[in-house]
Amino acid sequence: MRILSGIQPSGGAHIGNFFGAIRQHVELQARGQGIYFIADYHSMTSLRDAAERREFVRELALDYLACGLDPRRSVLYRQSDLPETCELAWLLTTVTPMGLLQRATSYKDKLAQGVPADHGLFAYPVLQAADILQFRADLVPVGQDQKQHIEMARDIAAKFNQTYGVEVFELPAPHILDAVAVVPGTDGRKMSKSAGNTLPMFWPEPQLRKAIMAIVTDSTPVEAPKQTAQALFQLWSLFATKEEQDEMFARARAGGLGYGEVKKDLAERALGFFAPMRARREELARRPDEVDDVLRAGARRARELAAPVWAAAREAAGVGPPA
Ligand code: TRP
Repeated sequence: MRILSGIQPSGGAHIGNFFGAIRQHVELQARGQGIYFIADYHSMTSLRDAAERREFVRELALDYLACGLDPRRSVLYRQSDLPETCELAWLLTTVTPMGLLQRATSYKDKLAQGVPADHGLFAYPVLQAADILQFRADLVPVGQDQKQHIEMARDIAAKFNQTYGVEVFELPAPHILDAVAVVPGTDGRKMSKSAGNTLPMFWPEPQLRKAIMAIVTDSTPVEAPKQTAQALFQLWSLFATKEEQDEMFARARAGGLGYGEVKKDLAERALGFFAPMRARREELARRPDEVDDVLRAGARRARELAAPVWAAAREAAGVGPPA
């Protein structure tokens, strides 16, 4: 089984990325051939600083490796190391109906947020389809927000196969990661870089502690019962067993529990949880050549896996010299 997923480079990974994607990607390595890539082409639709992009790619590679991605078992590559993906996106875009892209909720959301429309943003799902289809990926583990993009990849694959009368592409299935994956940010909204409410797990300890202490809570006095359906308790629960949660929630409901105490405990738990990964990351960061080697080897392997599909797509469409 081939398992494929991509993640956009947007600065150091935060605990929303970890619990929402990276952890599952690492676990899935045991179930098949994992192929994971850093989506630097996709990041061009929102990030317009070249130096930052390079820096963010390096950071994300370090994050993945520190969190347990095993380059001997899985492929980790930088999307732009396979420029052929962009050619494939062209072959696909020529059979993609406008209406399909116009229905994309992520695109509509961006417009509603006032993001200026450009063609890259509009065509984003076609490039994503190329990422997936070039590996004949069986399983695409993503968060709920990406489900529609995977369904679009299926539609585009079917349309290409039908147009040229050849089964070049397999239809990929989304694998929606479980609901624990919705990690609230420090202000209670979904944790995301653009909302500015993230807890990057590899921030220097004092900075991470400070951000945790600043998690927004209500102004219930210490003695009063506390509502447990709020960001602080949800974040704390990520690092606690079921029994610990039951005990903590009972204390919250009873009154007499201060938010400060919960925040301090959350900081200890989070720092402890990520400590081995932090140590590994620091060690890797001192050997940048090794990270470059991983990405280079990853690109070589990814190219081997995708090349037969690129060739089949070109052959089906009749571009380039005949096979
Ligand atoms: N659009 C995805 C996101 O923002 C990233 C991505 C790009 C991706 N290409 C992909 C995810 C292919 C899965 C498969 O999260």
